[in-house]
Amino acid sequence: MREPFHKSVLLEQVLESLAVASGRVYCDVTLGDGGHSEVILKRLNGTGMVIGIDRDAQAIERAQHRLAPFGNRFKAVVGNFAEIKELLRTNNIQAVDGFVCDLGVSMLQISEPSRGFMFSADGPLDMRMEGAGLSAAEIINDYSQNEIADIIWRYGEERRARHIARAIVTARAGQPIKSTGELASIVRRAVGERYIVKTLARVFQSFRIYINDELGSLARFLSQAVELLNCGGRLVTIEYHSLESRVIKDFIYRETHPCTCPKELPRCVCGRTPRIRIVHKLVKPAEGEIRANPSARSARLRVVEKIA
Ligand SMILES: C[S@@+](CC[C@H](N)C(=O)[O-])C[C@H]1O[C@@H](n2cnc3c(N)ncnc32)[C@H](O)[C@@H]1O
Repeated sequence: MREPFHKSVLLEQVLESLAVASGRVYCDVTLGDGGHSEVILKRLNGTGMVIGIDRDAQAIERAQHRLAPFGNRFKAVVGNFAEIKELLRTNNIQAVDGFVCDLGVSMLQISEPSRGFMFSADGPLDMRMEGAGLSAAEIINDYSQNEIADIIWRYGEERRARHIARAIVTARAGQPIKSTGELASIVRRAVGERYIVKTLARVFQSFRIYINDELGSLARFLSQAVELLNCGGRLVTIEYHSLESRVIKDFIYRETHPCTCPKELPRCVCGRTPRIRIVHKLVKPAEGEIRANPSARSARLRVVEKIA
């Protein structure tokens, strides 16, 4: 087992937000290295259980190993949280007392060049969390210039998206682009050294989000989560960038303003009332946590609770 483990963010805040109580059932839909699951299991103190989900089979294997001391109080399931209802149903769970959803990639994925997520080390252009579906190499070598530009613009919010897409298409006319190092050099040559780290981060992020349909999966998870919570159960999300933030804020707005009546009506006739209340709007990591773990700096936690 390769250690160290992924440094979990906002651990104390997740525990406090979930209001973990004995005998309850919690679901960690982004198990990763199991850091959040571990603190929940410790707090449960031999009662209740945690079900951990991850679409990455390697993550599941590592977390299973780490959390083995908790025996059958912990269950790991490989799957995409977009299918949460089905995943819980096949494991005979109708409802849970809390969800934790810590988005993005884990240290395990990001620090392994062979997974293709890194721009600072050379590896194959892969970026698939599940190891299935279209790889980054297929998109970068087969998609049209416009399609590539759209991905970089929509999912990386990179203003030089068209320029970078043109450079990619010109470079691949010679021979296919095969590695993360080649892609990084093409971007570097296209935009120059100024702000290059931020630009590379945005370009790589854009392909990763597109390939793994990260925003679509998140929206599908959220649309099922409230129904799967017991009353008083909480949903804790940790987001890292504005695109994730938008999907979560839209969900919270829709759930807290469900009335569909025309504005002209003096009072509500549709009868739709909120199913959730906001517990914490936005929690940021403390300075100390950011010093100890700089990758926590962009983490933002939100908490909602299901109401009767
Ligand atoms: C930031 S890490 C989670 C780290 C974890 N909380 C910990 O403390 O170790 C995010 C994890 O979510 C997983 N993931 C991302 N999108 C997913 C999805 N749609 N369904 C299931 N797992 C997903 C990734 O594979 C990754 O392992």
